[in-house]
Amino acid sequence: MYIKDLRLHEGKSVTLKGWAANKRESKGLVFVILRDGTGLCQCVVDASKVSEDTFTSAQQISLETSVSITGMVVKDDRQVGGYELQAEAVSIIGQSVDYPIAKKEHGVEFLMDHRHLWLRSQRQWAIMKIRNRIIYAIHQFFQEQGYVQMDAPLFTANAVEGTSTLFETDFYGDPAYLSQSGQLYGEAMAMAMGKIYTFGPTFRAEKSKTRRHLSEFWMIEPEMAFHDIFQNMNVIEAFLRHVVLAVIADCKSELESIGRDVSKLEHVTKPFPRLTYDEAVRIIKGEQDVNGQNAITSLEQELEQVIARTKEVEAEIAEREEKMKVPGMKKGEIGFNQAKIDKLKQELGDLEEAQRNIPNWLNSARNFEYGNDFGGSDETVITRLFDLPIMVYNWPHEVKAFYLKRDPGQSQFARGVDVLAPEGYGEIVGGGERETDLTLLIAKINEHQLPMDAFEWYLDLRRFGSVPHAGFGLGLERLVTWICKLPHVRESIPFPRMYGRLKP
Ligand code: 4AD
Ligand code: MG
Repeated sequence: MYIKDLRLHEGKSVTLKGWAANKRESKGLVFVILRDGTGLCQCVVDASKVSEDTFTSAQQISLETSVSITGMVVKDDRQVGGYELQAEAVSIIGQSVDYPIAKKEHGVEFLMDHRHLWLRSQRQWAIMKIRNRIIYAIHQFFQEQGYVQMDAPLFTANAVEGTSTLFETDFYGDPAYLSQSGQLYGEAMAMAMGKIYTFGPTFRAEKSKTRRHLSEFWMIEPEMAFHDIFQNMNVIEAFLRHVVLAVIADCKSELESIGRDVSKLEHVTKPFPRLTYDEAVRIIKGEQDVNGQNAITSLEQELEQVIARTKEVEAEIAEREEKMKVPGMKKGEIGFNQAKIDKLKQELGDLEEAQRNIPNWLNSARNFEYGNDFGGSDETVITRLFDLPIMVYNWPHEVKAFYLKRDPGQSQFARGVDVLAPEGYGEIVGGGERETDLTLLIAKINEHQLPMDAFEWYLDLRRFGSVPHAGFGLGLERLVTWICKLPHVRESIPFPRMYGRLKP
């Protein structure tokens, strides 16, 4: 019996098993909010209606005590989940003394240290439910389109995405690297199956603390024979649209509980803008507007607004704090004022962060050098101008991976495509059309100073029945982070692994 199914049992007696997410007592009554992983339900224990033992048990419940509660299901729209359980019997399964995560605000490092318990909290629960729906939608999309899921090895002999982020391990006395991407194997498997996708963990030694980088993350990598970069972009667009719409359709309450503005996600029904690298650079540098908006001047204006608002907020906090110093203020009024002040202080924190960030973004946009890869700031600057994901393609070949095909018409460009999520999120997908010219590929491997012998098998794919092909990699956690509008990628995965965090 699960809380999500209570509506099927209205007026009947059922037994729920779960954990106490909250408990309060008033004269002769104990109210327990029970959590069972499928939902929340208020259980009311009335001393006048239950045995003394049951009432004593109910009184002993503390935060996160596991319990079994039997009672009558009553519809009550005012309650969380719309139903209430009028308890008949309560028995404690496991005590929980001094649960470390109290209701008061904790710092994020404290919560990360208690990730094994933090996962039980409502917000984290909702994020994980959305992550689960995303994973399911990914499989649905590819399976329904006739892709075969195949798995790439995780121990590898070669780098795929540059040698600087490799994790080295000992493979029976020989060095081996944890996979940075399954792509090269994906290409081999696509030559066997036509269309495949891999879905597995990926490892990158990213020795810096950013809000976008994990050391271990999950990547979905489709690879399609007989696809060029434009067909690849069509697949990416249909795929992302499918996933986002599935989440909107099936995770309404989860999105609402984490405060996600769903209307922002609904823009994915529109065609995704496709920009060349050249256009994207002009936009970042403020040389080209987007829908009448200029990247540079809009940031300058925003900075002015942020500064003005900061002054207002500071003044209001000071004013309210003065008011509270005057003796004789009623208790209710004190509470009201304090709540306002807390809220204003939170806003002030955000404003101060914006005052630090915006000048950095402006700086990097103004000084962007044509030919460079985009950094996090550049991605933020351009994606703030769009309300749906954008695809940037045709990158200078020097800044992209060795395996990308040169554009036949303009050989300074590689046929890579990055998808940048809106609202300042930035890259969620990297992909492109693959080089099929054996000579060019060998030259690239040499240019990147990669060990040729580790790539001989890969070169065979060009020697034996080579075909045009393309694919991409989606970072699952980056997608979850954007869809849930999280401030940091660390909340998008059950147990994040990143620079400075290996436990719990
Ligand atoms: O752009 P990347 O490096 O592309 C590849 O690995 C290609 N081999 C994929 C392919 O064409 N089959 O990585 C792909 C995506 C990025 O767009 C990003 O979403 C995610 O993987 N990603 C990370 N996510 C979290 N933490 C990191 N350190 C990440 N590095 C990449
Ligand atoms: Mg990339």
